[in-house]
Amino acid sequence: MKFKDGQVSLSSSKNRRSYRELRKLLDKSLKISGNLWNWPIAGHLTLPTLQRILNLAWIYELQIKSSGCIMEFGVHYGSSLAQLINLRSIFEPYNYSRHIYGFDTFEGFTNVSNKDGSAKEKDFKVIKNFEKHIEKMCDIHESFAPKEHMRKFTLLKGDATLTLTKLLKKRPELVISLVIFDMDIYKPTKDVLAKIKPHLHKGSIIVFDEFNSQDFPGETIAAMEELDFKKVEFLQSPYLPHNTIYKFS
Ligand SMILES: C[S@@+](CC[C@H](N)C(=O)[O-])C[C@H]1O[C@@H](n2cnc3c(N)ncnc32)[C@H](O)[C@@H]1O
Repeated sequence: MKFKDGQVSLSSSKNRRSYRELRKLLDKSLKISGNLWNWPIAGHLTLPTLQRILNLAWIYELQIKSSGCIMEFGVHYGSSLAQLINLRSIFEPYNYSRHIYGFDTFEGFTNVSNKDGSAKEKDFKVIKNFEKHIEKMCDIHESFAPKEHMRKFTLLKGDATLTLTKLLKKRPELVISLVIFDMDIYKPTKDVLAKIKPHLHKGSIIVFDEFNSQDFPGETIAAMEELDFKKVEFLQSPYLPHNTIYKFS
């Protein structure tokens, strides 16, 4: 099922009813649990959400011995970005060199091509200035870790191909340990892949969130064109069916 904002759900209608029921229970629980306790939220997380968190923790640990920063292409509501910040605080709280960059238009898809299945321009658009909300959310998460006076994440608003080019011009020395592709579509995935290659090293991890996906074929086609599939081996995520990992070499 495809929603108005472009998101796709592969859940059954029975599961979707249960998710809505859980949301209602969460609203009720939040009302009675006061404005400090966060833990009651956990009882209402759905399996796919928990799978996503476990997957991010698994990926984070895979790249932890490699030097470099983290780049996430496709931030949307900032859910995975916030988790990456928290995972850094848990696994390597003193590694302030593990800067996390989040790229998004916050205007949804742009440059959708005929390789992108049913994706449409502006799918995944969020409300105006939502990046300010994400920034505040991430600042708060970061404040629990050491060196909280140093902002160790950057949100780059705009077409990732352009914002990445600008960033790399300013910071030509940037080395990347982990790249997460979650823009879902062909053109920006291909252009960004081409641009980041000189900044990766043997051991850098590249993650594709929609690998081999019929709903978002463009991401895999971009990978096929930019990487030599005869030489690279993709590692299936144990948590998410379309999430695949490639160790750059
Ligand atoms: C599936 S969502 C990302 C979800 C997010 N990673 C998460 O796990 O919460 C895809 C995002 O890619 C963004 N996007 C698509 N094309 C883009 C482009 N050319 N530049 C920057 N962001 C883009 C969209 O705006 C959308 O927010």
